[in-house]
Amino acid sequence: MDSIRITGGVPLHGRIAISGAKNAALPLMACGLLTDERLTLTNAARLADLATMAELLAQHGLAVDWQGRAISLGGQITNTEAPYDIVRKMRASILVLGPLLARAGQARVSLPGGCAIGTRPVDLHLKGLEAMGAVIRLDGGYIEATAPHGLRGATFVFPFVSVGATENLLMAASLAEGQTILKNAAREPEITDLACCLIAMGANIEGLGTDTLVVDGVKRLHGATHAILPDRIETGTYACAAAITGGDIFLENARAADLGAVLASLREAGVVISEEETGFRVTRANGLHGVDAMTEPFPGFPTDMQAQFMALMAVADGASMVTETIFENRFMHVPELNRMGARINVHGASAIIRGVKSLSGAPVMATDLRASVSLVLAGLAAKGDTVISRVYHLDRGYEAVEQKLAACGARIERV
Ligand code: EPZ
Repeated sequence: MDSIRITGGVPLHGRIAISGAKNAALPLMACGLLTDERLTLTNAARLADLATMAELLAQHGLAVDWQGRAISLGGQITNTEAPYDIVRKMRASILVLGPLLARAGQARVSLPGGCAIGTRPVDLHLKGLEAMGAVIRLDGGYIEATAPHGLRGATFVFPFVSVGATENLLMAASLAEGQTILKNAAREPEITDLACCLIAMGANIEGLGTDTLVVDGVKRLHGATHAILPDRIETGTYACAAAITGGDIFLENARAADLGAVLASLREAGVVISEEETGFRVTRANGLHGVDAMTEPFPGFPTDMQAQFMALMAVADGASMVTETIFENRFMHVPELNRMGARINVHGASAIIRGVKSLSGAPVMATDLRASVSLVLAGLAAKGDTVISRVYHLDRGYEAVEQKLAACGARIERV
């Protein structure tokens, strides 16, 4: 099994081109099920999770064609079952449920289990689809859903914000009969990107970027070409790499507007961010100060940046508190960071971080995608060698991570 070895202590200097967003690409690929015509997604990153989604869609009957950074999807649905073997690899497989139901009137999708960061139920996806007329039962670990009379528009109020459920309902509502109103919907940039693609395919959606999405269903959607937005979490991660090493990195294609809360926290910690037309530069000449952060749905501080920010706070002056409100078990990186010399205590949903002067390299183990990359950041700043095992987690969501960091001077290699 691959590991990554990092010899830390080098301030990173250079440019990193930000790839297309994983969490936008996955629902966008599921849109391929909404039309027989060709849907082409450009700016797609080469990531394991996108390959898994391609595999899932192919077994539903779609022809999936990768040409460089473009994924082209087309063809008819020949199978409405999403099997356990694929869903267990990637929870985002649940995103085919809404499109399959809307398009084929039925779907059998394996229930995703829990995962390293929490129990992650899918009840809101199911309740929302039921409100639109779907009949759903659970059998043998599968969601069996039918819409005998087609899906019809409904008003659905999310009791709390869910990115995936908003995406599933948005896709389903685009082909439902009549008007759907989604209240307390997620406002993440990936949702807006999805809505833009659906509109390009002929959907009627209003309220983009707000917590109320109004969808007037259409009879059919057509093909389109859509460019996937740049990955805000990859951007934030490399911003932390510049900050933790006291370096200077220009992040090409990065969109500051999608990272408001993270950039505000970085600036408060003493990091300098200069916005330019094609991206932004992140530098740190002086020390870092401890800053508190609490994860929240967008536009709040993203849970997907919590582990990386904690690695940074581990070497800041003074104490900070990081509170996780989205997932109940997203502190798996803490014991690993502590093995590298960090001083972090977890109390319920909060971690108290007492900054140390320096971290020291150690063998550590990755537990999920963002936890893994927080260990990469810690390794970049640490004295000596860090070896991170189970790097398949990283490959799910970071394209060419060693190459991008090595190009900025990092001593990093896959072994
Ligand atoms: C998306 O997951 C992302 N994944 C996650 O990114 C991200 O951490 C998360 O949103 C929050 O921003 C993709 O976009 C593919 P949710 P999702 O539904 O949609 C609870 C990464 O590292 N909930 O917004 O699954 C849930 O358990 C990943 O790239 C229910 O209770 O997240 C969680 O506590 C990890 N019932 C909260 O809501 C439901 O039906 C928010 O989850 C749905 C969710």
